Formats: sequence, C-alpha cells, structure tokens
Amino acid sequence: MTVLGFLIVCLGISLITATENTICTLDLGLLVDTTRSIEEENIPTVKAALQHLVQKFDISTDGTHVSFETFAAKSKLHNKFNNDTYHSKEAVLDLISDSINKLTQPTRLDFALKTAKEHMFTEESGLRPGVRSAMVLYTDGRSYPGSEDFFLDVVALKVIPSTWKFSKTFPD
Ligand SMILES: *[C@@H]1O[C@H](CO)[C@@H](O)[C@H](O)[C@H]1NC(C)=O
Repeated sequence: MTVLGFLIVCLGISLITATENTICTLDLGLLVDTTRSIEEENIPTVKAALQHLVQKFDISTDGTHVSFETFAAKSKLHNKFNNDTYHSKEAVLDLISDSINKLTQPTRLDFALKTAKEHMFTEESGLRPGVRSAMVLYTDGRSYPGSEDFFLDVVALKVIPSTWKFSKTFPD
C-alpha cells in the first residue's frame, strides 16, 4: 500500500475548500515534486489531481493564467504566466500531461521555491497587478537534508497561514 501525501500551500486563498466550478481569476503557480518517492505508478494519479484542479478555472486571456514547474534535484519552469500559448485549459492540461515523465532524486524544495520566487511570480513572467496569485505545491516529503534554508523564500512569496495536508491511500 502506498500513501502519497501532498502538502499544499496557497497564497491568500483557500482553493480546495471552494466547491464552485469556477473559483475565481488567479495567477496560479503549480509546483510539482517529481522525485522517486512519488513512485512511478502514481504518476497518473498526480496528473489527474493537477488536472482536476486546473479544470476548476476559466483559463483564458482575461481569466486565470497557470504557470507550471516540476522539481527534483533541479527545478524546471515549463511555462510562464504570460505565454499566451497556455491561456487555454486544453493547453495547460496537455502541458501537465506531457511534463511529468521521469522521477529522479533528491527533493530540493529550496531550489523549487527559489525558481518560483525569482522566475515564476514576477511581473516579467506575467504576474498581473491586481490579480490574486496562488501557489499550489505538491510534494510528499521533506527537502534533501543539505538544502539551503528556504524560509525566507517562503516569506518572500507571502505565504499566508493556510497550509494543510491531505493524503490519499492507493491500493497496490
Ligand atoms: C511559449 O510556449 C511555447 C510552447 O512551449 C514555446 O515554444 C514558446 O517559446 C513560448 N514563448 C515564450 C515567449 O516563452
């Protein structure tokens, strides 16, 4: 039996408690752990969870913009908020489906958050003034013990205390 836990950190909004089909307009950054502890057989579940979340938004030029990052030993920013190729739900769903293939090691949450702070949540990358931003971080574990302290990156990203955890149990 595999237990896959996700830690979700949101900026300023409780995404998961909203039950409406369309929640609101956001600049939504998704950070996804692609380390081996996730386990290969869970990749479809991770993709499905992300796609389920993305489905709830109106993704369009004037609507929600999604920026997607995966991380393990390094972090990879797959698209920026201002790339209009991804201003449709279909394009974002395809990006998620195509971007999680291989799992590697170790987990460097410090690099992941640094990339989010310096390259994702910036005006150069299309963060819109006056639009709420949210970051959803999917990970199942702790950062590599040698990681740099990322507390200040968390502060810089203005994470407000709406952190919670849920876990899902998968049958073998
Ligand atoms: C937008 O995304 C497309 C497809 O991934 C890519 O080819 C293009 O270079 C990106 N545009 C910018 C401005 O980054």
